[in-house]
Amino acid sequence: MALLAALVAPLAELLSAATRVTVLTGAGVSAASGVPTFRGAGGLWKQHRPESLTTAEAFARDPALAWEWYAWRRSTIAACRPNRAHEVISGWSRHYADFTLITQNVDGLHEAAGTRRVVRMHGSLWELQCSDRCAAAPARWEDRRADFVELPPRCPHCDGLVRPGVVWFGESLDTEVMKQCEAALDCDLFLTIGTSSVVYPAASLAPEAKRRGAYTVEINPEAPPASATLDLAIQAPAEVALDALDRSARAS
Ligand code: OAD
Repeated sequence: MALLAALVAPLAELLSAATRVTVLTGAGVSAASGVPTFRGAGGLWKQHRPESLTTAEAFARDPALAWEWYAWRRSTIAACRPNRAHEVISGWSRHYADFTLITQNVDGLHEAAGTRRVVRMHGSLWELQCSDRCAAAPARWEDRRADFVELPPRCPHCDGLVRPGVVWFGESLDTEVMKQCEAALDCDLFLTIGTSSVVYPAASLAPEAKRRGAYTVEINPEAPPASATLDLAIQAPAEVALDALDRSARAS
């Protein structure tokens, strides 16, 4: 705790002085809410690695299996609530006029915490799209059901298969989303929180923000290899570190 306080105090001062703040989050920020991360303990589902379920090929091969995994994630996450880390980030989003939250998470917990200016790199678990991209269906639509009668669900317009509105491995990210990420790299402070930093392009954002002059910080109880390239690594759970940081910033 004393070590955490020593790391957090100077960072709290930087936060107080900053005007442009960008935060990038990954699955670890939702771990304390009970959302399983993709890698590490709890990352396996029925012996399948997430990477083997989250591709267009996996969906084409066995849509029911892919959907079973998403249905499990939807029902698990439907019972989860934002934790202290989401709350602190939400507070920052209202405090700074120039703030962007870029998230790789599809769980919707940042939005549930009331965070403003959320850029969702990988889409949303709570949106669906027609896998045939039929002309009658909107590009994506919201559907928050946790239980489906039939898996995979069917497109209400063409009766084709419906897929989750998330970005799969091998698919391009939305160009508008990438523009927003790009614009947010010009900032005073860039915090990367709860991500293993192995999936691109998200993993390239913190190094690029640093190259452009931002002070870069990582918060993660493990020390992913990317940590070494940033200005400060705080090895602690997000909900603990952000709580300490918020308290310290308020006190200074
Ligand atoms: P990962 O599961 O790869 O990494 C989660 C990270 O969170 C790990 O580095 C953990 O050490 C860290 N962690 C665990 N508990 C934490 C806590 N309480 N506080 C802070 N950190 C904690 O998740 P991502 O990096 O988000 O992509 O994965 C990136 C992408 O890979 C995901 O968006 C998803 C996945 O396949 C798509 O679905 C396209």
